[in-house]
Amino acid sequence: MVGKIIGIGTAVPEKIVDNNQIATMVETSDEWIQERTGIAKRHAATAETTVDLAALAAERAVREAGIDPSELGLIIVSTISPERIMPAAACEVQARIGAKKACCFDLNAACSGFIIALQTASVYLESGLVKYALVIGSECLTKVTNWADRGSCILFGDGSGAAVLTLKKGRSYLPVLHSDGSQGEALTLTSRYTQSPFTNRDVQPAFIRMNGQEVFKFAVRKVPQAIEEVLEKNALQKEDISYYVIHQANRRIVESVSKRLGEKMEKFPTNMSDYGNTSSASIPLLLWDMKKKGLLQTGQKLILAGFGAGLTWGAMVLDWEDK
Ligand code: ACO
Repeated sequence: MVGKIIGIGTAVPEKIVDNNQIATMVETSDEWIQERTGIAKRHAATAETTVDLAALAAERAVREAGIDPSELGLIIVSTISPERIMPAAACEVQARIGAKKACCFDLNAACSGFIIALQTASVYLESGLVKYALVIGSECLTKVTNWADRGSCILFGDGSGAAVLTLKKGRSYLPVLHSDGSQGEALTLTSRYTQSPFTNRDVQPAFIRMNGQEVFKFAVRKVPQAIEEVLEKNALQKEDISYYVIHQANRRIVESVSKRLGEKMEKFPTNMSDYGNTSSASIPLLLWDMKKKGLLQTGQKLILAGFGAGLTWGAMVLDWEDK
């Protein structure tokens, strides 16, 4: 990572759905959900779209960065829940915020999407192609959730987080990014448009389907490995790291990562209790919460780590510079 974050912004829908409300829809309880996942509530879009949330988060991030939107050379939206396949959500955000000169595209790497988008933007910055890049993770997962499946509907929430990046001086870090398409069936979301007059396949409803235990086992094994790998690749020690900012899927996954790394839980901030699993948006939402709580200070090194559908997973080092 050669980029530094100079502005960050988030947006979530107004409506909050707590576990008790979900218990009126499927056979479950607040106690079961909290104990097995650490999630108490989540935001759920009503009128808002993935682009609405992305544009709002983007405006806030650009304002904090103190630049004019026309200075942005790149906008990447990481999402698995766009309302439309085309135009890209990034182009819609561009139009809303007036970033007339930006090259815009969407990226789909599920819950690893935000870190892969950060790394992609970083390459654009390093090559000198752009001076400022906007990276957004935005999701309306409650719209692609099967609300009759208690094994998955308890997990997901909606939200958006955006970061403005520019080139930083000093040391850069290599990321660790992995994919394993052969394991892809563990977590899928069928496209809404798979039918034509010429197909004879059964059309599946557009819901997230998940083998929860498989995904759980994959995450607790691969995330600590990726973190160890990124430390080694950059000749860093665990003591150099102030916080591990892990995709917020399940508190038990984060606890297991902390245990496997031999690092105390205080270095693993969490906020899934309030947001649920927001896929691409979870890492920027967590960074924002950490900033609000005063946890982030200039000079700290963070490791960001994501995992999700694909399967995809990875970790990267970020030097935090407070504005
Ligand atoms: N309420 C009550 N009981 C439930 C619920 C529920 N919501 N869901 C499942 N159960 C029951 C099951 O039916 C099962 O009952 P049985 O023993 O009588 O058969 C029992 O609870 C245990 O089920 P498990 O599936 O073993 O429960 P587990 O402890 O694994 O928790 C969970 C399930 C929370 C889904 C967990 O596996 C998990 O978090 N997995 C990771 C999922 C994840 O992170 N996905 C997102 C990846 S990111 C992305 O790319 C979108």
